[in-house]
Amino acid sequence: MGRPDFRGGSRGGFRGGRGGGGDRGGFRGGRGGGGGDRGGFNRTRGGGVGGRGAPRGGARGGRGGARGGMGAAKKVVVEPHRHAGVFVARSKNDDLLLTRNLVPGDTVYNEKKIQVDGENGEKIEYRVWNPFRSKLGAAILGGVDQIHIKPGAKVLYLGAASGTTVSHVSDIVGPEGLVYAVEFSHRSGRDLINVAKKRTNIIPIIEDARHPHKYRMLVGMVDVVFADVAQPDQARIVALNSHNFLKNGGHFVISIKASCIDSTATPEAVFASEVKKLQSEKLKPKEQLTLEPYERDHAVVVGVYRPIKQAA
Ligand SMILES: C[S@@+](CC[C@H](N)C(=O)[O-])C[C@H]1O[C@@H](n2cnc3c(N)ncnc32)[C@H](O)[C@@H]1O
Repeated sequence: MGRPDFRGGSRGGFRGGRGGGGDRGGFRGGRGGGGGDRGGFNRTRGGGVGGRGAPRGGARGGRGGARGGMGAAKKVVVEPHRHAGVFVARSKNDDLLLTRNLVPGDTVYNEKKIQVDGENGEKIEYRVWNPFRSKLGAAILGGVDQIHIKPGAKVLYLGAASGTTVSHVSDIVGPEGLVYAVEFSHRSGRDLINVAKKRTNIIPIIEDARHPHKYRMLVGMVDVVFADVAQPDQARIVALNSHNFLKNGGHFVISIKASCIDSTATPEAVFASEVKKLQSEKLKPKEQLTLEPYERDHAVVVGVYRPIKQAA
């Protein structure tokens, strides 16, 4: 296993550091972007959508004229990403991150859909995953080595908001998986509940993640805890939930927003101190990357909980 891989900068083709506003220029889409809000990006910038390494083999994707783009059909090829359940659309100018739509015809945050012909002539629909709207999407594009969220996985998602990223996690884990989505804001929770009405693998929980005993009757043991609560006590919240619900040898994926924890320290110092807090709770970080150019002064930390000793 060796040492945990704590790289200070982003991986997969773009370097870390603050970068400045100009970093975003090369990427199309983004948050505000009217008609162009596809979250697309130009693969000539580096690591591109595959992150580190090529997409996984096999022809689970499809080829064809995508519908739902900017009007006219465009030639796109959909390939599996090396993270199971994640896909990439490649066209002449753009690469787009995708998940296969669990609820064909439905969108969650007005994202674009792409439809291609499957091997047996069936239609397969994907939803474009905008990395400017999702830290998990940004981490994948940044080349994170492992997300541990895969088809069939059970995920406890803390800080679900309106369900934007949760919906992509729901696509990834698919009908055999489950997403327990915890959000304490009632306003966001209403949207989340509406998303869960159509996506039956999402269990919305409108509670404070600081009090896991309030939802322990609803949640089983999970394979992965994902957290994006943007709170100063996030490490504690993750530890509490992991002690209650995460299997030994299960994994955690945490997005850390430095300014939410300590706006006076450097982001690097904040990330290092959060890593220490996690370690003291049997959460062993294995990998860290920053989310430039999609989010400034954010890092994602991925690791394992109470690793199971391998027999010699
Ligand atoms: C950065 S947003 C999450 C965005 C979301 N992960 C996404 O990608 O779509 C943080 C969310 O965490 C929620 N939150 C913060 N503290 C929480 C807590 N203690 N329990 C539950 N939700 C919390 C906030 O209400 C907010 O919706």
